[in-house]
Amino acid sequence: MRIRKAVIPAAGLGVRFLPATKALPKEMIPIVDTPTIQYIIQEAVDSGIEDILIITGRDKKPIEDHFDKSVALEEHLKEKGKTGELEMLHRISDMAQIFYVRQQEPRGLGHAVYCARRFVGDEPFAVLLGDDIVRSEVPCLKQLMDLYDEVQATVIGVQEVPPADVSKYGILDAEPVRENVYRVRDLVEKPAPEEAPSRLAIMGRYIIEPAVFDILARTKPGAGGEIQLTDALRELAGPGEMYGLVFQGRRYDVGDKLGYLKATVEFALARPDLAGQFRSYLETLVRERRGS
Ligand code: G1P
Repeated sequence: MRIRKAVIPAAGLGVRFLPATKALPKEMIPIVDTPTIQYIIQEAVDSGIEDILIITGRDKKPIEDHFDKSVALEEHLKEKGKTGELEMLHRISDMAQIFYVRQQEPRGLGHAVYCARRFVGDEPFAVLLGDDIVRSEVPCLKQLMDLYDEVQATVIGVQEVPPADVSKYGILDAEPVRENVYRVRDLVEKPAPEEAPSRLAIMGRYIIEPAVFDILARTKPGAGGEIQLTDALRELAGPGEMYGLVFQGRRYDVGDKLGYLKATVEFALARPDLAGQFRSYLETLVRERRGS
């Protein structure tokens, strides 16, 4: 079955990014000049997704406004003859068919995904987490979709992490099938390094079979007292087939301050309008700091 729908959980409180997130949804924090959630939507659209559901919560209205039309701003730009900016606004509001539903309480990622049940119905669907941004030749989600086409079973995007980092992620217990493809035996959410079954860490991209909803409906709170998607996927992996794909591309954890800074620098260096000046600024800065 073709993957047509994507779910983007965006109801988190953004505690790791206070004070910026006190009045601004963390998904709206820009990398260079573009909110992080716009990169995620672009990846879904570039992968061929048609309908997108964003799971929001209280105080997330700026996300809806961002993907909506802004009549007053458009009029202003039209009057001033700023056609480039006007076209940019149109591209944003026309990106995809976006739907919204609210998660009423912060009860965890599993619960957030469960809020998508009616939107998804009875077909396999994609989940993209907003803290993970991937720069790659083939969009990350498209890589997962291509494997799904072949295996017709749940596919989870992973990358290897150093042993010291396994406790930040969901980790796969899996056996290799071929280069970069693993068959999943089990999953564990944020294990202690000595208990981790591998270093294959879940990186915020999933194609999931709809049977997960019946499981999520009865999943009890797990790590951190939250209803974990990883726990529901464990149960789904039990009787059925599930795969891990080591996707190609550079992934940034933009929910982490250092990851965010790295993304900002590298995205700016990849921008033709900024790269030249920004690179020489960085080089001068490094020379100054070294005292030469
Ligand atoms: C979530 C998932 C975890 C995954 C991670 C990727 O955790 O629960 O399995 O590895 O996203 O970013 P969170 O970072 O929301 O705590």
